[in-house]
Amino acid sequence: MDDGLPSVPRFAVLHALAAGVDFERYFRWRRSRAGDPFFVRFPGFGSALFTGTPAGAREIFRAPPDLTEPPRPNPIEPMVGTASLILAAGARHRRDRTLLAPAFHGARIRAYGELIGDSADDEISGDTAGSTAWRPGVRVDSRAAARSITLRVILTAVFGVDSDERRGEYTAAVTEFLTAFSGPLMLVPALRRGLFGQAPWDRFVAARARLDRLIHADIARRRGAPRPASTDILGLLLSTGYDDGTAISDNDLCEQLRTLLVAGHETTATSLVWALFHVHREPAVLERLRAELRAAGPGAHPAELARLPYLDAVCQETLRLHPAVPIVLRRLTGPFELRGVALAAGDTMGVAVPLLHSDSGVWQDPERFRPERFLERRYSPFEFAPFGGGHRRCVGATLAEYELRIVLARILDRVRLTLPPRYARGRAPLSVPHNIATGPHRSIPFDVVA
Ligand code: HEM
Repeated sequence: MDDGLPSVPRFAVLHALAAGVDFERYFRWRRSRAGDPFFVRFPGFGSALFTGTPAGAREIFRAPPDLTEPPRPNPIEPMVGTASLILAAGARHRRDRTLLAPAFHGARIRAYGELIGDSADDEISGDTAGSTAWRPGVRVDSRAAARSITLRVILTAVFGVDSDERRGEYTAAVTEFLTAFSGPLMLVPALRRGLFGQAPWDRFVAARARLDRLIHADIARRRGAPRPASTDILGLLLSTGYDDGTAISDNDLCEQLRTLLVAGHETTATSLVWALFHVHREPAVLERLRAELRAAGPGAHPAELARLPYLDAVCQETLRLHPAVPIVLRRLTGPFELRGVALAAGDTMGVAVPLLHSDSGVWQDPERFRPERFLERRYSPFEFAPFGGGHRRCVGATLAEYELRIVLARILDRVRLTLPPRYARGRAPLSVPHNIATGPHRSIPFDVVA
């Protein structure tokens, strides 16, 4: 592949990220120089041909499944493990997806409605370890609160964690694990080396081992004493097997569960923070949303909340403006043409989601947070793709969407928040990578008012 990149600094992406430039601006800059599609070089990982148009997204998402696989080397491999669904390709991806997907089907997810509402309630009441009740006068760190809620949901949904002690152990281990996998470790494979137990890589490996010990202990306990009619994902995976009748090994199961923790926690938390941010910057949006929630009633069932059209539009608009996963990549196993550019086996192509979500042919006033656009028309999966697309579309999308709606509704129902003046006007904070997702480069505080 001739990527035609002589004018791009070798470590352009690294420089851009270190300088606090978000992906959207970086993509815009590349496209302004090269048009669409355009190449981006990732240090240590090679180049990828990107598109930010619906026609390009259609070509990528409709590419024959056997012609694509996840990019290699993959920056997140140390986090999720080689057995992860995120890294599987071909027949193995089909097999693992068939095993995991039923755990995320609508009916099962709806069973988590109460759990999601309770998790938000506990955070607001200050009933979770390390949190303070959201009383008037308190300043809430939205990132910490959102992470706490989504972690609680995922721990219960995936592992059936129901004791405070076990939750505390998992929370400490997951937090240490995610913090230890720093941006430099993700982007510079050369740093993944130990040095007498003191290097960042050593700390990461130790944190991963600590988390795996917890997961393996749960697997062993549950294999020994299955819970009847278990509704959590671990129980489901233990009670079923692959299509060919074989069972999943403990190691593979551990990596799939670690994947779900990593993929399902930060992404949803970050989206919740952005939703709260925009809703509280736009008085008309807040007012309309509150009116809809009032009409639904304070005791509205989670399933009812998830069906409210304006709440739905607010969540969609949040994911449009701030896709937590801004890059969706595919590596080719054979020749392919993307927007007229010939690619060969081994080349990588990708959708630049922030560009897709601001394409001027589809979105009017794309910079504005305007949920109404989702009430006025439907967008195709090639115009709006916060969860990627095709055969690899996010397996947890239904859970994430359900969770976002219920938690946002619960917070607005229970407390009044305002943004401190410096956040209420002007530019939104930049969106920068945090582990597997991107999020505001600093936490956004909210003041609880009477
Ligand atoms: C707002 C929250 C979320 C966003 C924005 C998001 C976004 C994405 C995106 C863009 C992909 C790549 C899709 C592609 O390659 O076409 C993906 C894949 C994936 N996501 Fe999510 N995700 C979210 C929440 C979750 C949750 C809650 C879970 C599970 C608990 C989850 C588990 C996964 C897994 C396992 C994959 C790999 C799927 C495959 O390769 O077959 N995600 N997600």
